[in-house]
Amino acid sequence: MAIQSILKMGDPRLLRVARPVLAWNTPELRALVADMYDTMRAASGAGLAAPQIGVDLQVVIFGSNEANPRYPGREAIPPTVLINPVVTPLGSEEEDDWEGCLSVPGLRGRVPRWQRVRYQGFDVEGAPIDRTVQGFHARVVQHECDHLAGVLYPMRMRDMRQWGFTEVLFPDLAPDTDD
Ligand code: NI
Repeated sequence: MAIQSILKMGDPRLLRVARPVLAWNTPELRALVADMYDTMRAASGAGLAAPQIGVDLQVVIFGSNEANPRYPGREAIPPTVLINPVVTPLGSEEEDDWEGCLSVPGLRGRVPRWQRVRYQGFDVEGAPIDRTVQGFHARVVQHECDHLAGVLYPMRMRDMRQWGFTEVLFPDLAPDTDD
């Protein structure tokens, strides 16, 4: 278990299409997930994808039992490990909202996302996960799963005027939330 360094935008490893996990509940997979949790918590992230710590596998984590200081006022999302995910939009409704990314530190941008999605995948033991979610939960899942396709949130933005430094856009956010 260790806090890993998070790759930043510009690193070509963030642009790869990640490989699927083929073996469940292995020591390597459990160690990867433990490192991802340590790294996400240390950075107060809402989620983290394996490629962000340089691991080329389809593994994302998100959610926590507590409210996230980087996203005050947003509903809590159950702590989830999602492996080999498939995200399917439900309906055609989109929603614009602010996003940040630990690989794009210090910035926030308004990003369009599907309002409602179904996501399917597996947990560390290989048990299936199948959920239908909306709003912030749906946004976080889309953001994290995009990392597995080499997509960072600025690549989804339609209005670059709605991109800026967190300290300027949200001066009231806690000073340690600089991502
Ligand atoms: Ni991100």
